[in-house]
Amino acid sequence: MYLELPRVMGHRGAAAWAPENTLASIQKAADLGATWVEFDVMLTGDGRPVLFHDDNLKRLTGVDALMARTPYSRVKGLDAGRWFSPDFAGEPVPTLDAALDLVWDLGLGANIEIKSTPGRDVETAKATLDVVAAGLGRRRRPPMISSFSRMSLAVARVLRPDWPRALIAFKVPSDWQTALEALGCASFHLSSKVLNPPFVAEIKRAGYRVAAFTVNQKRRARELIACEVDCLISDAPDRIASAIIPLDGENGPVSAVRQAGR
Ligand code: G3P
Ligand code: MG
Repeated sequence: MYLELPRVMGHRGAAAWAPENTLASIQKAADLGATWVEFDVMLTGDGRPVLFHDDNLKRLTGVDALMARTPYSRVKGLDAGRWFSPDFAGEPVPTLDAALDLVWDLGLGANIEIKSTPGRDVETAKATLDVVAAGLGRRRRPPMISSFSRMSLAVARVLRPDWPRALIAFKVPSDWQTALEALGCASFHLSSKVLNPPFVAEIKRAGYRVAAFTVNQKRRARELIACEVDCLISDAPDRIASAIIPLDGENGPVSAVRQAGR
């Protein structure tokens, strides 16, 4: 499965500069020159895919309730921007449909992380894939589907075998190679803490791309690029792009992205 990953990808949009997983955050990533964004997709209680990271709504909306128990009619009225800054007050929890419309309007690549709440791995994957497929049409680029959940990725493999997939992990599972193969993944997305040059080389020798999250420090970004990590997922894609331009060269992919974005 061929996959052209960008050097730098915005994390939850551009989570350092705008409230994570909102339309404002996706727009901000594009304004900063990012060509791809990662965001998290979860289901409301009544099964609507929305962009959200936590099981509980409290941190991001102030409401102490589980997303998995809250219907969309309630979620859509919540404020997911004020916690970040009064400038973003009233920013809603976006539906996946709305996020995709924006992503495609902006010409961005999307890395959709399927973030199932406990026990909803299959349902979350199916609902997410359905929404993407309904909006995709012929001329739009299919997104990358990533997940910590092997079950969600297995569903993606069966239902949309041609869309690129990535397994995500904080710690390296001992069976990583078997898992990537069984799930037909193109890429392995790992916490930057577990990456080192021999391990990156081993993953690449096995035929997979490597992305690191969440890379917000310039020095760490340079180290990871030097050990041939393909993609850095960052809350501050602008900062990380500027840190690695000298390594890629002035005509390299990151500088091209930045010039196009400004
Ligand atoms: O996709 C990589 C990264 O987003 C996984 O961690 O918790 O930020 O969704 P998290
Ligand atoms: Mg994520």
